Amino acid sequence: MNIAGLTTVLIAILTTCKGELSFKYLCIYWHNYFRTLHQVPNVTWSNRLQQEAEVWVKYLAEKNKFEHSKKNPGNLYLSHPNDYPKEYCSDAVQWFHWEERYYNYDKPGYVNKAEHFTQVCYWMVI
Ligand SMILES: *[C@@H]1O[C@H](CO)[C@@H](O)[C@H](O)[C@H]1NC(C)=O
Repeated sequence: MNIAGLTTVLIAILTTCKGELSFKYLCIYWHNYFRTLHQVPNVTWSNRLQQEAEVWVKYLAEKNKFEHSKKNPGNLYLSHPNDYPKEYCSDAVQWFHWEERYYNYDKPGYVNKAEHFTQVCYWMVI
């Protein structure tokens, strides 16, 4: 990571710590931060996906489960009660991206250990 990239990360973290940015903004910000690094187009917020995620997370909470939805197996993130991150989405997306180390750029395709990373940086042409 170069100095400009590091500065961007530090500014985002400092701003986050001051609680100035919304959950939604930071989810988009961090996805697009990494997507820009990997040269894939930015994403925008989807109200339909938000509604699906809310229905699924309520189901998980009621059933005390932690598993992917079959309808939309998006990334899930859970933190320990003693270790709450200051900002959930920033923490989650950075963890997901951390799996890049398991991705093989010489042999692109599905890699189980890098599936959260590939979801963050996936480029789907509709
Ligand atoms: C994509 O998002 C990143 C991070 O928010 C931003 O720096 C960049 O300017 C955006 N790119 C475009 C083409 O909008």
